[in-house]
Amino acid sequence: MSQYDLSRPVLEQVREAADIVAVVGEHLTLRKTGRNYVGLCPFHGEKTGSFNVSREKGTYYCFGCKRGGDVIDFVMEMERVAFAEAVERLADRFGVRLPPASPEARRRKDEQEQLADVMEAAQAVFARQLSQDRPRAFLERRGVPLDVAAEFGLGYARNEWRALYDELRSKFSERALVGAGLVVEGDGGKVWDRFRDRVTIPIRSARSRIIAYGGRALGDENPKYLNSPETSLFSKGHVLFALDRAMRAFSKANRAIVVEGYFDCIALHRVGLTETVATLGTALSEHHAAELARRVPHVVVCFDGDNAGRQAAVAALRTLLAAALEVSVLVLPDGQDPDDVARREGAEGFGRRAAAALPAADFLLELMGSTRQERRRNLLHSLEVVNACPDPVRRFEMRETLARGAGIPLEELGGLESTRMVARQAAVEGLPENAELALLRAFLHDLEPAESAAHLRAFPIDGICHPGVRRVFEVLQRRLAGGGTLEIAGVLSEVDDPGDRRLLAGLELEAPQTPRERIPSLIELVRRRADRLRSSEIVVRIRAAELAGDRDALARLQAEQSELIKRPKRGT
Ligand code: UTP
Ligand code: MN
Repeated sequence: MSQYDLSRPVLEQVREAADIVAVVGEHLTLRKTGRNYVGLCPFHGEKTGSFNVSREKGTYYCFGCKRGGDVIDFVMEMERVAFAEAVERLADRFGVRLPPASPEARRRKDEQEQLADVMEAAQAVFARQLSQDRPRAFLERRGVPLDVAAEFGLGYARNEWRALYDELRSKFSERALVGAGLVVEGDGGKVWDRFRDRVTIPIRSARSRIIAYGGRALGDENPKYLNSPETSLFSKGHVLFALDRAMRAFSKANRAIVVEGYFDCIALHRVGLTETVATLGTALSEHHAAELARRVPHVVVCFDGDNAGRQAAVAALRTLLAAALEVSVLVLPDGQDPDDVARREGAEGFGRRAAAALPAADFLLELMGSTRQERRRNLLHSLEVVNACPDPVRRFEMRETLARGAGIPLEELGGLESTRMVARQAAVEGLPENAELALLRAFLHDLEPAESAAHLRAFPIDGICHPGVRRVFEVLQRRLAGGGTLEIAGVLSEVDDPGDRRLLAGLELEAPQTPRERIPSLIELVRRRADRLRSSEIVVRIRAAELAGDRDALARLQAEQSELIKRPKRGT
């Protein structure tokens, strides 16, 4: 967390002061063409310039790899630093004095520091108790030597209701213990230890601070793992287990290995693959992928060798490819997890498997089937996965591998895919996504602000299909309601999703421009789709109200239904 106040107005000030052309210009040569500057994209290899920078708007966008954003995004991506660090660097360079963090932010920071103290104190207790017989026997069964257990800080929570509570209560308030998730508070105010008779596994942040615990039952009890609740420090969808240790091995190994379980991760570290991290039983998220992409170019996915594991691997593949990572998959024998295989085959055996991990496209090809017939049937699905890759060169290579494996000439892929896209668009009743983008572009770039605002205030957002475009429309309406402007820089300051930011940064360059007089009819198309969605929802609700005998609701819904039917149809 930054020691400075990085609230919205302060960020606006930094964005205002930072000249994006100067910042980008430090990393590549820019040439002025019209209102924009163009250069060779620093994020993917290319020979002709697709990388655009707009000084006016404070944005950059690459046609080739579709990366884009504002000056802060650029520093984050280019210099591989976190948000706060990027802001601080820019403020420093452009002479913006950042105000110190507010008392509220400082209080939050104190709270987080106390949380960290509680976690460390608990760790001392748990680690000491690992010498008891029950956890010792467990480690032996699992084949975890004591030095490895110590390295990961494994511990043991005793089989008593308030063992930890009693030890820590002299140093910390009850509120702090409950807040840290180590103590549970029942309805009547009774408190007890969350972890009892479990092997404890500390989960650390990238900076090696304990932010949560996992607790493994010693036998077959349910749940097998109990984890800390989500706190201000811990969110399962963000944290990668053992990242702090694995980071040190990334540059030498030039890759990260991702597994699903705590003990899978520990077992691979044990056989020398110390570049391994684990997701904690959740799907690999965009945040996980971003954490990795900041630190390492290549990720090897190694999930369980069963059907669920393979499906999870495909999903992870898509997410990692979208973060511009190079990805391979280590396929394990049916029904085994990395822990089983590493323990059976040891360092040498597992090392050989890791070295033979399949590149993304080869893995997909293998999943698609063994005959060309089968592969053709599954081709479109696999193409969709590799299309997530923003780098055009790598995307092309992967598409080529898939096409060749399915025995279809690469030139025919385009036709194949567009048939499918047409079918999908028909399914959402015929409004091409282009129209959604064109409207957004018109409102943000082409129309007079007052005219855009008038259209936007009554805009039927429900009729927008594309989830990213819909989120942006929501931001625009919110800004207008709060008296904000439609300036791209301001809008970007309220959009967090990286995909949405890219979409905004590339809007003027990629989206079609619509003649002004066509705009009302495009809006009308969206409105009709919103109405259709609404009326199918009403049909369902009417049926439910009938079943429940709720006459009031029924009358209300029927009135709304006839209102919708009567609504005049304008435009095309
Ligand atoms: P698995 O069920 O594959 O277990 O869960 P595992 O890792 O092989 O566990 P062992 O080897 O039997 O000890 C994979 C991961 O999902 C999370 C844990 O992070 C686990 O390592 N998980 C699983 C939970 O959080 N809770 C559960 O009850 C089960
Ligand atoms: Mn296991």
